[in-house]
Amino acid sequence: MTQIALIIGTTMGGAEAVADELQERLEQAGHQCHPTLTPELTTLRQFDHWLVVTSTHGAGDLPDNLVPFQAELTQQKPDLGTTRLALCGIGDSSYDTFCGALDHLEPLMRSLGAIPLVDRIEIDVQSPEIPEDQALRWIESYLERL
Ligand SMILES: Cc1cc2nc3c(=O)[nH]c(=O)nc-3n(C[C@H](O)[C@H](O)[C@H](O)COP(=O)(O)O)c2cc1C
Repeated sequence: MTQIALIIGTTMGGAEAVADELQERLEQAGHQCHPTLTPELTTLRQFDHWLVVTSTHGAGDLPDNLVPFQAELTQQKPDLGTTRLALCGIGDSSYDTFCGALDHLEPLMRSLGAIPLVDRIEIDVQSPEIPEDQALRWIESYLERL
């Protein structure tokens, strides 16, 4: 059983709904998720597995609720050498900066030593398939690596 910090970035709840589905699937498979909309390093350091589910806002920016966390990582530069990542972006491909939040977070976390367990997914809300279903398909490859 793996303990997973579930880091959610959202403004209107879309990413949170996707995160809820992922949590349900992961817990059905015997793992335990710890969701947070206000991630802080002191708490997150207890977990080796970080699953980030975030939308993008502004022009390729993180949702406001993840900005303090981004600042904490940038300023404190923690060693994330034992951190295993999975990154799920939700965005709209009509923006040039499609899923741009991940373009901020992934290089930052990797530069601190975190290693992705699976390739990130970029979910397009313009797709005819609902975001939750795209995310649930992707989480199976993550489950295989836990
Ligand atoms: C003001 C605004 C700006 C947005 N900017 C982007 C963007 O730069 N890139 C992107 O991929 N999606 C962008 N989106 C789309 C959102 O990421 C998308 O609607 C997402 O489902 C919102 O999820 P949330 O409710 O969890 O925040 C934007 C949406 C709004 C309303």
